[in-house]
Amino acid sequence: MAGRIRDADIQLVRERVDIAEVIGERVTLRNAGGGNLKGLCPFHDERSPSFNVTPARGVYHCFGCGVGGDAITFLTELDGLTFVEAIERLAARAGLKLTYEDIDGRVRRGPSGQPGLKQRLLEAHTAAALFYTGQLVEPEAQIARRFLADRGFDRDAAATFGCGYAPDAWDALTKHLRAKGFTAEELTGAGLAKPSRTGNLIDRFRRRLVWPIRDSSGSTIGFGARKLFEDDQGPKYLNTPETPLYKKSQVLYGIDLARREIAKTGRVVIVEGYTDVMACHLAGVPVAVATCGTAFGAEHIRILRRFLFDSESANGRIVFTFDGDEAGQRAALKAFDEEQRFVSQTYIAVTPDGQDPCELRQHRGDAAVRELIERHTPLVQFALDREIAKHDLDTAEGRLHATRAIAPLLARVKDRGLVDEYIGDYAGRLGKEKAELRRAVAGAGADRPAEQVPAPRRSRDADSTQLRAQREVLKLALQAPQVAGPYFDVVDATPYSDPNYRAVREAVEAAGGAAKAAAGANWIAAVSGACTEIAAQALVNELAVEELRLDREPDAVYVRTLLARIQRPVVEAEVDDLKRRLQRINPSTDKDEYMSLFGKLMGLEQHARSLRDQAANAVE
Ligand code: CTP
Ligand code: MN
Repeated sequence: MAGRIRDADIQLVRERVDIAEVIGERVTLRNAGGGNLKGLCPFHDERSPSFNVTPARGVYHCFGCGVGGDAITFLTELDGLTFVEAIERLAARAGLKLTYEDIDGRVRRGPSGQPGLKQRLLEAHTAAALFYTGQLVEPEAQIARRFLADRGFDRDAAATFGCGYAPDAWDALTKHLRAKGFTAEELTGAGLAKPSRTGNLIDRFRRRLVWPIRDSSGSTIGFGARKLFEDDQGPKYLNTPETPLYKKSQVLYGIDLARREIAKTGRVVIVEGYTDVMACHLAGVPVAVATCGTAFGAEHIRILRRFLFDSESANGRIVFTFDGDEAGQRAALKAFDEEQRFVSQTYIAVTPDGQDPCELRQHRGDAAVRELIERHTPLVQFALDREIAKHDLDTAEGRLHATRAIAPLLARVKDRGLVDEYIGDYAGRLGKEKAELRRAVAGAGADRPAEQVPAPRRSRDADSTQLRAQREVLKLALQAPQVAGPYFDVVDATPYSDPNYRAVREAVEAAGGAAKAAAGANWIAAVSGACTEIAAQALVNELAVEELRLDREPDAVYVRTLLARIQRPVVEAEVDDLKRRLQRINPSTDKDEYMSLFGKLMGLEQHARSLRDQAANAVE
């Protein structure tokens, strides 16, 4: 068993580590004023940022789900590290050497003072990556160098992406790492080696070109390996298996290089392979990422949204690239199924002649890759055209079926302004009246699936109580911004169930937040001016003058009580949702996921309890 880390070292780690940097590697953080940063919470799904980081105090807190802590807690909760592993990770990045002690305080030496498992697996990967890049210059690796050169990648490119070569031997890497002190368990646990039929440990990757797969902080957590020899019986690409470090449903190749640009530009480009990521980055599209040996799914979206700062105000763009061939088209439609999870607009760039971005760059150069990405069309339009193409528009029946088929697609369009444009366009193509198509769309929208944030189920009466509380909160933000602002501003728009209320909430934020409101009439004008819809603007003026529902001056308790009342159903619905998810997980086979959800549930329930207590205050 590992010894204890010396208290003084833990203290030092806490002092040296910049929490904004640690969290910033996993969540894009923007300035929130008052020395605070904010971003989309990595612990729950949300559409506007309520996750706050205060670097001066070294802490984070989410006002949406109630989680909070310091850099160490963050890593234990998000990456599932143990306390010791989190300290080790932070110490490694700060260049601090840890000392391990016995219970009685004696300094430990030798293997019993070893770091935790995940840290060891990371170290093994770092050493393996170095080994593979070293092998790339050996004579034997000629074929790998040729492969790279053929695809337009020079030495610099190979170095930037850490390309390497796994030699033609049973256990070259295994021997190398064993000599460095890694155990057989560590090598198999890392997915770098596996037992052969005879029981000896052999390398997982042999005679292949390898790409290190790095997490967003730049640590290597796995490898992708491409076949080079005709007589290699294995698949074209071989990846690291699921390990404590490598979860393919969450891995995005290139995220370490792309995340800053993604944060800066609000753009992300999703491509299919390692070579496509390289080609895009080299061609001047530095926001490209790819999944590794698996389809782009809900988990990838959750992670990308955090880097994108994917919220209503962010105006982000997600561009999927696909081959024009049948498989590519199917993949594009699959992406469309999931695109509702993004707040930002989604687009597709279809490559000409079934070429992928790497081939495009080889044949037509960097500019062609940039043009491909720039020539993106909305994903929904792509899906609509595909649907229409299935029907014979020369017959009345075909036109009717096409109308029915596209109505649900149109109902999903996020930008309401665009829907009308599409309706006009497609009604024309289908020879229908706009009104007719609009009705079909309205009908299809009625039964569309619920949004990400589960709508709390409540009775009509409860609904009107809720709406009353939401309205009162907005009145407070407008009429008593100095009192209400500090509490109002940190609760995002999620609890406001009426779209107009939500719009006002958003306008308050766009006007700079209630806490910073200047006294006097300017404040109402500012909020009203920040409204994007006339209906919301009218509502602002109405709420600014409507009498508050209490007989005295509003105070902090009143504000917080009402805020607790409006947040309660949201958090309770999240608790319910989490419980349902937990029920579907088998704790013995998926222990990690179970424990992490369970931890999250505990935090949420605590938050729900405190909201319940606060909401119960008698204030009116
Ligand atoms: N892939 C995989 N397993 C395979 C084939 C493909 O995991 N058997 C994944 C890899 O991540 C690969 C991506 O799908 O990078 C795209 O595959 P493909 O288009 O076949 O390869 P390219 O990236 O175009 O690479 P190459 O130039 O080597 O053909
Ligand atoms: Mn390809």
